[in-house]
Amino acid sequence: MANPFKPTAGMTPPVLIGREDDLEEFEMALDNGVGDLGRLAYVTGPRGIGKTALLNAYGDIARARKWDVIDETADQGFLDRLVEALTNAKTKVRSVELPTVRMDLGGTPVGVSTSLGSISLEPTQRALTFRRAAGQRLDTLEKKNRGLLITLDEVQASDITELRALATGMQHLIRERRNVAFVFAGLPSMVEDVLNDSVLTFLRRANRTVLSGIPIPEVHHAFRTIITSNGKQASDEVLDALSASTRGYPFMIQLVGYWAWAYTKGSNVITLETTQKAIRRAQRGLGDMVHAPEIDGLSSMQKEYLLAMAQDDGPSATAEIAKRLDRDIHYANVYRTQLIKEDVIYSPAWGQVDFKLPYMRDYLREHGAYHFLHSGTE
Ligand SMILES: Nc1ncnc2c1ncn2[C@@H]1O[C@H](COP(=O)(O)OP(=O)(O)OP(=O)(O)O)[C@@H](O)[C@H]1O
Ligand SMILES: [Mg+2]
Repeated sequence: MANPFKPTAGMTPPVLIGREDDLEEFEMALDNGVGDLGRLAYVTGPRGIGKTALLNAYGDIARARKWDVIDETADQGFLDRLVEALTNAKTKVRSVELPTVRMDLGGTPVGVSTSLGSISLEPTQRALTFRRAAGQRLDTLEKKNRGLLITLDEVQASDITELRALATGMQHLIRERRNVAFVFAGLPSMVEDVLNDSVLTFLRRANRTVLSGIPIPEVHHAFRTIITSNGKQASDEVLDALSASTRGYPFMIQLVGYWAWAYTKGSNVITLETTQKAIRRAQRGLGDMVHAPEIDGLSSMQKEYLLAMAQDDGPSATAEIAKRLDRDIHYANVYRTQLIKEDVIYSPAWGQVDFKLPYMRDYLREHGAYHFLHSGTE
């Protein structure tokens, strides 16, 4: 049997564990009809927690209701791609002509954008282009009682102009009571920047889903179901070990499941010994795929802060970290704040910090020196 676990970012997992309530809420938002508040929503949470997987599942829900679904990632040029996807569908919309993007401003030749006017007009124009394209698509869809879902993954404030245009267009579509839904996703700090943008206040009303880890009993149950329904067996002891090792982190669920399955080749029974080997291998995979890239992007002082934290077995006292760094508390707190903004650490209680991702502490204890010696800005 093919390996049922898929440790690949953005991949739809074989079983979406622990997100039943979110899926149900989204189904209701579509079924309740135009105007339901769940039709404007966002999903946030740390790396590897399952934002993209959930967006994909929302797309499936919409498709099952015969909606059109357009999935985009918010990197440069996404708005143009979106408009293209809206107009190039296999629907009759294709024959309808799109308005030109730029306006001729008081004698200025089209395409020559020197005046202030064109700079400030452009977002409005782009919003209008999007709104028209979506409107035409919806004209066709609504006749058949169908709707349009747009998902936008990895939102970040760096593409704020396009986001503004999209949000403005979307706001109008919603106000016009079109059969539309819009869900975006991103890391907490990125989403926060976007929501704080003065033009994007409208998005603050969006329905918020903050994803966190999945309760271990649910992980346990899912492991049993996936393993047995794919033709292998695992004892309770093995299932306990597997699920505990994940700490509820979706990426680790796929990784450890993948290796346990792969190491059990030629047999139907996943043994405890294999499981332990798989857990070690999965931790290494997590280090390579999640921790290392995350740490590499940090400054040396931020890395030092993390290394100081890794000496503790649980949450660290910020005052203690400052001592270990031999700095005063205000200086240390600059890095604390930066790391919180980067979603690497969080504050579980006043004066305390802890790692956001599972096994980050273990990773730093083992490989911290390596990262510290190699590179680092500042
Ligand atoms: N609810 C879930 N149950 C089981 N596996 C899941 C679940 N959610 C996500 N996964 C798996 O975890 C991994 C990470 O998921 P995903 O890429 O959706 O995370 P993400 O939050 O979008 O991460 P990033 O911030 O890096 O974009 C993937 O392999 C995915 O299949
Ligand atoms: Mg993602």
